[in-house]
Amino acid sequence: MLYIGIDLGTSAVKLLLMDGEGRIKNIVSRSYPLSFPHPGWSEQDPEDWLRETVAGIRELTENCDKSQIAGIGAGGQMHGLVALDKDDKVLRPAILWNDGRTAEETDWLNSTVGRERLSRYTGNIAFAGFTAPKLLWMKKHEPELFARIDKIMLPKDYVNYKLSGIHCTDYSDASGTLLMDVRNKCWSKEMLEICGVREKQMPRLFESYEPVGTLTPEMAEILGLPRSVKIAAGAGDNAAAAVGTATVGDGRCNISLGTSGTIFISSDSFGVDINNALHAFAHADGGYHLMGVMLSAASCNKWWMEDILKTDRYSEEQSDITHEKMGRGQVFFLPYLMGERSPHNDSFVRGTFTGLSMDTTRTDMTLAVLEGVAFGIRDSLEVARSLGIDIRRSKICGGGAKSPLWKEIIANVLNLELDSVETEEGPGYGGAVLAAVACGEYASVRDAAEKLVRVTSTVKPDADIAARYEKRYQVFRQIYPAVKPLFQTI
Ligand code: XUL
Repeated sequence: MLYIGIDLGTSAVKLLLMDGEGRIKNIVSRSYPLSFPHPGWSEQDPEDWLRETVAGIRELTENCDKSQIAGIGAGGQMHGLVALDKDDKVLRPAILWNDGRTAEETDWLNSTVGRERLSRYTGNIAFAGFTAPKLLWMKKHEPELFARIDKIMLPKDYVNYKLSGIHCTDYSDASGTLLMDVRNKCWSKEMLEICGVREKQMPRLFESYEPVGTLTPEMAEILGLPRSVKIAAGAGDNAAAAVGTATVGDGRCNISLGTSGTIFISSDSFGVDINNALHAFAHADGGYHLMGVMLSAASCNKWWMEDILKTDRYSEEQSDITHEKMGRGQVFFLPYLMGERSPHNDSFVRGTFTGLSMDTTRTDMTLAVLEGVAFGIRDSLEVARSLGIDIRRSKICGGGAKSPLWKEIIANVLNLELDSVETEEGPGYGGAVLAAVACGEYASVRDAAEKLVRVTSTVKPDADIAARYEKRYQVFRQIYPAVKPLFQTI
């Protein structure tokens, strides 16, 4: 049988067709606009996601035997608020995961409701990108629209709703709403009340690998696919990427270098970081995970290369960065172009270059950007280490992981062995695996991931370079506390 995996990302939807043995038969990518209507705001039109996903599925399946298609599974950008009225019309553009407008609501939740209560109700505290502060923002700034909300959902759930007619979500994605009691896997009555929403506005919760239904007759017609095609509940993109790299079960780690940068630690049991610097979320394999999230990761490098240096020749630009240069630079880059989530939870902070001098070169600054992102991931790894979690190796995926140089820098900054897997399409591949499990091709997500995912190369840290980076990291970590107060006033 064949399975469609959807990665509903921030810049594009990437779709892949996988057979029952995990082989990829076709890949398609379709982009859509992202708008920043005010500084720090980030929005997208859910209709764009749907239009491009539908066109993508048609293109993906153009030349295959459509009767063989059994299931569809999506991994989607997390936290985005999609609100529909009673006629299923989108009420406003979706407010995305990297939108920073809710600083006030986030602060109110953390200080007035209180971090201790939030953590008790949900396993997490409020971060600006989470869904609950967005609802509070809408309630305050767009009360008429807020009053018309009939259904609340997350980005990939909107696509699943249109495909299946079922108003559903999965535990991994719902974890990032701050409306779910993650430990007990149910909507938190207290949080719904705090945000002024009712449970009947919320989607029904499923495990990621459960089928929520099949294609509606209209969608089957539009897509030219059998009505029997099952829709898996799917997952947040990070949980889906973790499935796609076999980061399942207890104590495994995956680093994703996409628009955001994440470090994802899977676990069989629910656990919370006492300072809530890491997110405590449900996993798509039925278990849980801890996750540190950088809001700008590969996007820092893209910004530096394309917007500032005006080039798309990434490897040419990096060709002067030798082993000799690694860890010997004088320039530091703070990668907080959209504020930062983990571990600082600061929507006001922005990026900086520190340590520029008359002999600083373009290459030095390019290297500083790559290192700055690696140091940002290290900040979250340090939180995990402080909880006694012992990580020696990790998988790595996402667009940024296509750069061998960046992988080497990260391996040395984190002092970890980094494994790359055969299929680099993290969330899309994970989505297809979830669909295969939903259709009964595999007994469980773990069973499928263990059988399908193969490590193809490993980058090991070098003792000298890692030692140099250790010294640089100790300087890097002093820069944010020093500049933080400035950004409250800028
Ligand atoms: C995770 C997060 C991002 C988005 C990116 O908490 O906000 O990784 O899911 O799509």
